[in-house]
Amino acid sequence: MIVVANEKGGSGKSTVAMHVAIALIKRGLRAATVDLDSRQRSLSRTIENRQAWAGRVGRNLEIPGHICFDGQIDYPSAAGHVTADQVLADTIETLMPTYDCIVIDTPGHDGGPMRQAHALADLLITPLNDSFVNLDALGSFDAETLGVTGLGHYAATVDEARGRRIAAGRQPADWIVLRNRLSMTASRNKRQVDAGLRALSAALGFRYVEGLAERVVYREFFLRGLTALDDLDEATIGARPTMSHVTARQEVEQLLAALNLEGTTGLSAPAEERARDAA
Ligand SMILES: Nc1ncnc2c1ncn2[C@@H]1O[C@H](COP(=O)(O)OP(=O)(O)OP(=O)(O)O)[C@@H](O)[C@H]1O
Ligand SMILES: [Mg+2]
Repeated sequence: MIVVANEKGGSGKSTVAMHVAIALIKRGLRAATVDLDSRQRSLSRTIENRQAWAGRVGRNLEIPGHICFDGQIDYPSAAGHVTADQVLADTIETLMPTYDCIVIDTPGHDGGPMRQAHALADLLITPLNDSFVNLDALGSFDAETLGVTGLGHYAATVDEARGRRIAAGRQPADWIVLRNRLSMTASRNKRQVDAGLRALSAALGFRYVEGLAERVVYREFFLRGLTALDDLDEATIGARPTMSHVTARQEVEQLLAALNLEGTTGLSAPAEERARDAA
């Protein structure tokens, strides 16, 4: 169970969720995706666009099994929220026998199913834009010394979910925070956010990894449902591949290595061992 989340909009959750899901399929795993952002549906739209693009260019692009979970619409009352949590847990349960791994994309705000997803996560990935405004969701800092002064609202959500897992006798999620949309040039802000994340990493117990640079190619992918991991030929991407595609592919591969998907998904286990576990 891989959950991509942050209580902050536009940090790259759907982009990262899509890349992780496609990476897992390309590594030979059966991956499903669940979109909990039933209003915006960015991940669902990306997958629909990928299906349409694959048909148009006659390429066999990997498509995850996909569910868009509509907790807000189907369970609007307070009692309904409890039902929505249960229905989400049941939905995941029904996906389990068919898929090796499930990637859940969440909305950038608090809510029942979003919290429930945190409690289900084996691996929690939090993309973060490169500023102290974004860092505030995780922790607050002294304006002069930049020492950590408090816990952010999203860090509290993660803490609560990890507590729920421990209470249920399960391992808490392996939590990874990655920086997204990094500028290519050095700046004081960039260095200070780096230092802030290092300090928070120790205090909150997450692994902090280098993420993705700001690159226009990530924005261009949406309409065709593409990722930086797809074949870099003109027919597949519908344009001449550029250096930007190549560099994006390299940094996504580096990110995937840092995520240790192999450890989380049992991908490194021999095939017969995985089959035995699945049985
Ligand atoms: N590294 C990047 N470089 C350039 N653009 C990026 C990068 N990562 C994401 N984007 C763009 O930023 C926008 C927001 O990204 P995305 O939809 O993945 O964020 P999100 O956290 O899922 O947002 P929301 O909270 O609204 O669901 C999109 O237009 C996406 O293409
Ligand atoms: Mg999103």
